[in-house]
Amino acid sequence: MNILILGSGGREHALTWKLAQSKKVNKIFIGPGNAGTFESGTNLKLNPENFTEVKTAVLQNKIDIVIVGPEAPLTMGIHDFFVNDIALRNIPIIGPDKSAAQLEGSKDFAKAFLTRHKIPTSAYKSFDKTSLKEARAFLRTVNPPYVIKADGLAAGKGVVIVDDIYEAEKEVEAMLDGKFGAAGQKVVIEQFLKGIEISVFIITDGFTYKLLPEAKDYKRIGVGDTGLNTGGMGAVSPVPFADKEFMKKVKQRIINPTMKGLSDDGIIYKGFIFFGLINVKGDPYVIEYNARLGDPESEVILPRIKTDLFELIEGVAKGDLAKRKIEIDERFVTTVMLVSGGYPGTYDKGKSIHGLNNIKGSVLFHAGTKRESDKIVTSGGRVLAVSSWGYTMKEALNTCYRNAGLLDFEGIYYRTDIGFDL
Ligand code: GLY
Repeated sequence: MNILILGSGGREHALTWKLAQSKKVNKIFIGPGNAGTFESGTNLKLNPENFTEVKTAVLQNKIDIVIVGPEAPLTMGIHDFFVNDIALRNIPIIGPDKSAAQLEGSKDFAKAFLTRHKIPTSAYKSFDKTSLKEARAFLRTVNPPYVIKADGLAAGKGVVIVDDIYEAEKEVEAMLDGKFGAAGQKVVIEQFLKGIEISVFIITDGFTYKLLPEAKDYKRIGVGDTGLNTGGMGAVSPVPFADKEFMKKVKQRIINPTMKGLSDDGIIYKGFIFFGLINVKGDPYVIEYNARLGDPESEVILPRIKTDLFELIEGVAKGDLAKRKIEIDERFVTTVMLVSGGYPGTYDKGKSIHGLNNIKGSVLFHAGTKRESDKIVTSGGRVLAVSSWGYTMKEALNTCYRNAGLLDFEGIYYRTDIGFDL
């Protein structure tokens, strides 16, 4: 089987690394990939959001299955593009169609879905430019802090939480005035939930699902969960508070009703579902859905899957996931993300990375890296994820930090407190 993985981050390198271990996989292509995916597959120069480029790559390289890493191609309708193209329609695409990808692409759609199917989530209302007055009135009915979300995809920046009602009003106006472009044509205002976040994942063929390992990621740039939000500075799996009782609630109250809701709404969802949950005093609530795997969560959950990931991918493609097995490694896997100085603001690229061959006991997943003649240099904000196994979280983290200390590039920064709150 020849596989094409779309994307270029740590998640895509982790998928490449895992699938390269499968006896059933012949060749792996990654579009566009990074310096890490280059080691276990063939990088293709293509833009995953340019479906014509994707089509050419699929046909030229005799691709049998396409796995979509990031959300943008999904919300833009890459699944539908394949289904409607005579040359591509028999090539399975792992990732939902445009209507189902709205679970991630539209906060309003996701909230309406959750409410319609009675899945626990915070109270909310949506507004557009014509209902600004109502938005102001609604803000006065909820307690601070105020959670304001741009409806569409806003590069991870579309969620604002403020304590002051006047600031909240200003934020609603700014979003509706185009602060996040078209993504803010609608805004969702929701009740704040206090608790601890957890990322839960399933893979589904539209009929049944397999639960993947859960993870907790650390989104803020600063130690002690302070400062600006990033794409994720590290992650751990398993999550100690996600015990049997909690996960039973997650299945009964969230995953099963989501599967039923999709089926009731006539959606055959093929791919990964990422449930962004919050644990409020032992009860799980949905904060958001994502139509893909998480990053850096993939860098800890994929190393915990003992079975051949391709078996599950093939199960989604063939619609026989129920017959497939999944076995999970009981050990902890943790990851620490090494980032460019200045990230998530402006940062330099092209810095030489040193020490890549010194690593022992960890696996390095490349995110923002590229090859430049015989060197590997930085090419993004999140540069490398150092993932390690351990019988305890501490053991796994110690290995991550020992190896992180052996790596270097100008401006290198990483959080030294991943897992601190668990
Ligand atoms: N780590 C969060 C995400 O992938 O969206």
